[in-house]
Amino acid sequence: MSHDDSAFMRTFWGVIIGLTVLMFVIIVLARWVSGDQAADPANDPRVLAKIEERIKPVGQVRTGNVPTATASSGGAVDAKGTYTSACFACHGTGAAGAPKLGDKAGWKARIAKGNATLYKNAIKGFKGMPPKGGRSDLSDGVVKAIVDYMVAESK
Ligand code: HEC
Repeated sequence: MSHDDSAFMRTFWGVIIGLTVLMFVIIVLARWVSGDQAADPANDPRVLAKIEERIKPVGQVRTGNVPTATASSGGAVDAKGTYTSACFACHGTGAAGAPKLGDKAGWKARIAKGNATLYKNAIKGFKGMPPKGGRSDLSDGVVKAIVDYMVAESK
């Protein structure tokens, strides 16, 4: 190696080492400036809020104002309103062979079975009649009140 070459190599390595040191200094500075909190996006409250918004349960979104008296409502039973939301689909139309509300001939033989049987069949289900009309959220008491309403309207 000539004298010029070794002078070049010294400068060359000097520059390389200098740049490497500078790189570490910049990395350390960058971390210090941004702080550990921001370095992890999962800790950013704005990011957390957005994630919460995206994964919040569908059930919180009300899709309609359905009048219901559920087991937990404890208030007065709105038999007619709950009938409309829970039973009308079949008993208002005769779907699946359901006896229609107000159809005296269709209800005569059923009413003759007595309230206890009608309550039991409405609550537990009976042939094409699903238990509680498929509304398991309704309490037995509410279903009984609706049966009373249906019977009264169909006598
Ligand atoms: C998916 C349709 C459907 C829904 C919803 C439905 N019913 Fe029925 N229901 C029927 C059918 C079908 C029958 C007739 C079953 C048979 O006798 O074959 C019936 C029969 C009945 C009977 C007579 C049972 C008997 O012993 O003859 C009562 C009482 C009754 N339903 C109450 C209700 C009440 C209260 C609701 C609402 C909470 C309701 N139903 C919702 C389909 C339905």
